Amino acid sequence: MIMKTITVLSLLLLASTLSSSLARGSYQTLLPSDFNHRSNVSCTRHLLEEIESRSSTSSVDLAQGYMSNSDLERAVKEFGQRCSNISRIYSIGKSVNGVPLWVIEISDKPGEEETEPAFKYIGNVHGDEPVGRELIMFLANWLCDNHLKDPLATLIVENVHLHLLPSMNPDGFTLRKRGNANNIDLNRDFPDQFIFVNNDEDSRQPETKAIMNWSRDIRFTASATLHGGALVANYPWDGTDDKRTFYYGCPDDEAFRFMASIYSHSHYNMSSSKEFVDGITNGAAWYPLYGGMQDWNYIHAGCFELTLEISDNKWPVAAELPIIWKYNKMSMLNLVASLVKTGVHGRIYSSGDGRPLPALITVGGINYTVRAGRTFAGYHRLLAPRDKYEVVATMPGYKSRNTTIWLDEGAMTLDFVLDPEVSMKGSILQNVYDCNCDSKSKLEFVEFLWGSHLEVFFVFFVILGFLCLLFQKRKKVKYSTTKQRTVVV
Ligand SMILES: *[C@@H]1O[C@H](CO)[C@@H](O)[C@H](O)[C@H]1NC(C)=O
Ligand SMILES: *[C@@H]1O[C@H](CO)[C@@H](O)[C@H](O)[C@H]1NC(C)=O
Ligand SMILES: *[C@@H]1O[C@H](CO)[C@@H](O)[C@H](O)[C@H]1NC(C)=O
Ligand SMILES: *[C@@H]1O[C@H](CO)[C@@H](O)[C@H](O)[C@H]1NC(C)=O
Ligand SMILES: *[C@@H]1O[C@H](CO)[C@@H](O)[C@H](O)[C@H]1NC(C)=O
Ligand SMILES: *[C@@H]1O[C@H](CO)[C@@H](O)[C@H](O)[C@H]1NC(C)=O
Ligand SMILES: [Zn+2]
Repeated sequence: MIMKTITVLSLLLLASTLSSSLARGSYQTLLPSDFNHRSNVSCTRHLLEEIESRSSTSSVDLAQGYMSNSDLERAVKEFGQRCSNISRIYSIGKSVNGVPLWVIEISDKPGEEETEPAFKYIGNVHGDEPVGRELIMFLANWLCDNHLKDPLATLIVENVHLHLLPSMNPDGFTLRKRGNANNIDLNRDFPDQFIFVNNDEDSRQPETKAIMNWSRDIRFTASATLHGGALVANYPWDGTDDKRTFYYGCPDDEAFRFMASIYSHSHYNMSSSKEFVDGITNGAAWYPLYGGMQDWNYIHAGCFELTLEISDNKWPVAAELPIIWKYNKMSMLNLVASLVKTGVHGRIYSSGDGRPLPALITVGGINYTVRAGRTFAGYHRLLAPRDKYEVVATMPGYKSRNTTIWLDEGAMTLDFVLDPEVSMKGSILQNVYDCNCDSKSKLEFVEFLWGSHLEVFFVFFVILGFLCLLFQKRKKVKYSTTKQRTVVV
């Protein structure tokens, strides 16, 4: 029995070591050699609600060079054909006026369920903030062109499922206004933790419902929405319980500040903001809002979402789009890559039969629970680097297990093996054949090993482990900027 467990463990260890070595990559830093003037224009906040968009007076000129909704649809479909082996095109619903909300998924296995984390970018939440929808198409095309050429592109394609919704509000875009066709601000239309105005699901806008349904369907680990009118990375909470303006952090404040800083530090000049220290802000400290998408994602979708204000000018002339893309490119890429390059990741198994357990992961001192996936029991816990975290895995019917880790700038793979609460003799072997998950073949393989030439295979594993170490050493030389450790508890 002990030997069997060891064999299972070494298999698991091997699998996760191999997968983690694939997840290595290197951060690229933005070297704005071609940007030699830094303007000191103060970043006065364009009060989003109060100031009417300047676009209304000269809308014809402003739209020039921007994709219309049908141009965007064509661009998305052309992308799907051009990059068919690393993408999938689908719609999550329709706007009030019946425009499909197209999504591009980028992954080496698009549409397949894996243990990999999923990330979403949403552009054009506000109709009169169209920069995001253009940047998202720049991002998709850059990834397609650089897959297998650039390490960061390859890392994202191979280790993340990236879902891109260029426009959440195509009707507002056409009407050149903030709200949708019913004049509803979509970033005020989500259920709120403090004000219960949007709790009637049927009264919500179709665009909002589509996002909510989508977020229940796909387990996003993190996401970001792209806005305009300021230059800052905004993180939860967005509201306060008494409507006053003050810093109101969520339980994962530290992780969110870390995430927001990844964006602002990779940006050409977001972090040199005069208005926002480090180019980041807590939402409620800036101005409280209710019914926003960001807080809803964290509370209800298990998703760490940022609200990114990517240009002071909501609707700049189209000629500026390539430069705005240049300013934001490394930020957009590094934020997605942070899903595999930082935080704690792993899978949870039963010690009895090795089956994946969709357990709950909590971290000591942080009142938030991350749920492992139902099929593969993979989890992704975003955390800021810190000396000490106590990570706990709990699952009904199993003894919970906790371990203390030290997390540096790199990611850590932490697998849990949980013991059944009551272990009856004989029930464990029986369970192997009850298991209807994908690990069945692996388990049968283990059974085969156990039954036959265990010694030979033991030597084989020792050699394989040694080769693996060598392989990792070589990888480490290649990508010395990130470290990843693997632990099984
Ligand atoms: C910054 O802008 C102010 C006016 O807003 C100007 O007086 C000052 O000289 C500028 N500083 C630099 C370094 O350009
Ligand atoms: C996609 O196609 C390109 C070119 O045909 C190829 O080089 C690449 O390996 C493919 N990628 C995947 C993930 O299949
Ligand atoms: C919700 O999503 C599911 C699957 O993703 C889809 O079949 C269904 O039509 C969607 N419902 C709405 C109301 O959009
Ligand atoms: C960043 O650079 C752009 C373009 O040079 C400028 O308009 C903007 O004011 C700058 N913002 C900050 C915070 O330096
Ligand atoms: C933890 O958060 C939940 C809401 O998610 C809240 O109901 C509960 O009171 C919090 N617990 C503590 C100890 O703060
Ligand atoms: C972790 O385990 C120790 C005993 O092993 C226990 O005292 C402690 O309360 C556990 N912590 C949590 C957060 O469950
Ligand atoms: Zn906005």
